[in-house]
Amino acid sequence: MDSFWCKEGHLNKDQAQVLKTLAKGARYILEIGFCTGRSACSIIEGAGPENIQQFVSLDINYDYHREGRNMLKKFIKEFPFFQACEINSKDVDSVWYSKVFNGNGADFIFIDGGHTYEECKNDLEHAALLLNRNGVIIVDDYMSGPPNGCSLPGVTKACDEFFKTYNTKFERKTWNKDGKGFCILKKVHSLLGRAPIKFDSTEKEFYDSVYY
Ligand SMILES: C[S@@+](CC[C@H](N)C(=O)[O-])C[C@H]1O[C@@H](n2cnc3c(N)ncnc32)[C@H](O)[C@@H]1O
Repeated sequence: MDSFWCKEGHLNKDQAQVLKTLAKGARYILEIGFCTGRSACSIIEGAGPENIQQFVSLDINYDYHREGRNMLKKFIKEFPFFQACEINSKDVDSVWYSKVFNGNGADFIFIDGGHTYEECKNDLEHAALLLNRNGVIIVDDYMSGPPNGCSLPGVTKACDEFFKTYNTKFERKTWNKDGKGFCILKKVHSLLGRAPIKFDSTEKEFYDSVYY
């Protein structure tokens, strides 16, 4: 997987190691915030490409970084399970996510898109519904700060509020090294208490919203 680790990017090697460990065996994966694909690379390596059924990458702009779209093309060419949606995560809802995953839910979700309180809260709420039982959500930049991270209080606030609301449904762990932080949320109980709905996968309007 070394050739998929872009020479530039936001995620560092310590974080990559944590993602690799936590993603082990995941089959259905969502990532919000691709940038240069470092987190995608780490998650795919940890999960094992042979196990993955679907990896959905969502980003508002694959040109956010000058290497972004080139890296994206490499992932799409190499991994048949890789799908990219160039979309603002605030413009999609839980029905959209459920349809993208054809009712299978997700086992592993990495949130690293918009870093305001509202954006992170919105992504967490949708992730919580999409996530399968025993699945994991990881939010990047939780309690981050110097020397290697930057302070993003909106992300920390959204995570803390989320866990306060859903502490009977989720277990929480935190990780931090040199100012780079993760909030790790494991879903131990279902939110809805029922299986996800299956959708008609031939709907044209829906497929038009999936970019690649
Ligand atoms: C910090 S970078 C992600 C880093 C990436 N996870 C990695 O490991 O290289 C944040 C990314 O989120 C995207 N983004 C920002 N706001 C977004 C939003 N509202 N919806 C979707 N993507 C968003 C940006 O375009 C950018 O590529």
